[in-house]
Amino acid sequence: MQPAKLTLNGSEYEFPVTVGTENEIGVDFSALRSTTGAIALDPGYGNTGSCLSTITFIDGEKGILRYRGYPIEEVAQSAGFEEVCFLLIYGHLPSPEELTRFQKDLTYHAMIREEMKDFFKDFPLSAHPMMVLSAMLASLSAFYPWSGDQDEIDLNIIRLLAKAKTIAAFSYKKSVGQPFVYPRNDLSYTENFLHMMFAVPAEPYLVSPVLDNALNLLLILHADHEQNCSTSSVRMVGSSQSNLFAAIAAGVNALWGPLHGGANQKVIEMLQAIRDDGGDYRKFVNMAKDKNSPFRLMGFGHRVYKNFDPRAKILKTAADDVLRELGVDDPLLDIAKKLEEVALSDSYFIDHKLYPNVDFYSGILYRAMNIPTDMFTVMFALGRLPGWIAQWKEMREDPKAKIARPRQIYVGEAKRAFVPLELRAAGETKKSTKQPVPA
Ligand code: ACO
Repeated sequence: MQPAKLTLNGSEYEFPVTVGTENEIGVDFSALRSTTGAIALDPGYGNTGSCLSTITFIDGEKGILRYRGYPIEEVAQSAGFEEVCFLLIYGHLPSPEELTRFQKDLTYHAMIREEMKDFFKDFPLSAHPMMVLSAMLASLSAFYPWSGDQDEIDLNIIRLLAKAKTIAAFSYKKSVGQPFVYPRNDLSYTENFLHMMFAVPAEPYLVSPVLDNALNLLLILHADHEQNCSTSSVRMVGSSQSNLFAAIAAGVNALWGPLHGGANQKVIEMLQAIRDDGGDYRKFVNMAKDKNSPFRLMGFGHRVYKNFDPRAKILKTAADDVLRELGVDDPLLDIAKKLEEVALSDSYFIDHKLYPNVDFYSGILYRAMNIPTDMFTVMFALGRLPGWIAQWKEMREDPKAKIARPRQIYVGEAKRAFVPLELRAAGETKKSTKQPVPA
């Protein structure tokens, strides 16, 4: 493809163009500053590609999501979560032997060090499980060496994946004041998580296949989503060559916000508020459209999807099936469907291309599975973990990767003389030399 041309201050510059597998076009501005002296200004990075990646492809206009080339619909239909972890992290579908080995590794590294268990004691009962998860994941770097040796990195990837679910389940047990339940070597990744969450010492706990399948689906649908806020945080922190555990803890914190993974908790709170208010969902749709109201329909809209989020489509059907199989009648599911119906036929949502995203129906499923609302974003983090690891690994193995360091355009005060405290106290201020901000 022909290079892109830029005219700046009367001079013309050329920049190479990179074309992706699916014909996505990127103008390579990596030499912009050194050749023109200018920088690219793109708050929110909506037009900025931060890397070349082979992991996940999204076409937001067409509602397409693929992991390593495999359509999400087919992956969700046929794969297990451990298989998807392997695919994302190592780049190919595992052979039966590779999968068995990987599953065994994930099982045998599931326990956390006994000293770490004590950390849970000191968090207040009200601590949000996302806070506990991020602190505990960062704490893993205190226990496992980080010299940068390849075997050690590979082992730490396994440790992280294996232990995260144990930490998540322990944070739940702590919040309800129940004893921790240890992982079992005869259970799969998802079965083990459910066992550690819901088993109590007083009685045997049998993992329900319905719950297990639902959890498997939810984790797979969350497993990667290219350069979103949390993944970019993982890459950014990792770019300074900090250790994997520290980079992933940063991803957890970024995910927590209500505009990102925290939306799944907010969706349920919104649906509950609509129910408690008498069920008038149109009132909430109108509030979301009102520019004078800060209210937004949680679970609607996406930076990339301007068509249906394919994950939401799968989850909507799954919500119906799982609730039926579990015999759960949740009025919030009806409210969600009505809300979606109204929003999708409303010109505001149509014109703004606002469709339900992955968080819209996931909370309904978690509720049916008896997972408490403040654990929803932890569930998202567990699902996203293989994606974060794969992205971190890709960055680490890229010989061209650099420390992430965006620039800025400074629009603050121009140089001015410092006024010492005594003079400020005496009411004397020097005249500001601030220049007007250019239009
Ligand atoms: N309800 C009402 N209006 C909305 C919504 C919404 N959920 N989302 C966007 N809009 C409107 C905005 O007001 C804006 O309108 P305007 O152009 O008339 O001023 C326009 O749509 C564009 O919105 P932006 O915030 O600029 O879009 P952006 O791409 O930056 O934001 C985001 C995407 C953050 C997801 C946004 O749609 C949102 O806040 N949604 C609700 C929170 C949510 O569900 N987050 C989860 C996203 S999925 C995930 O992270 C896993």
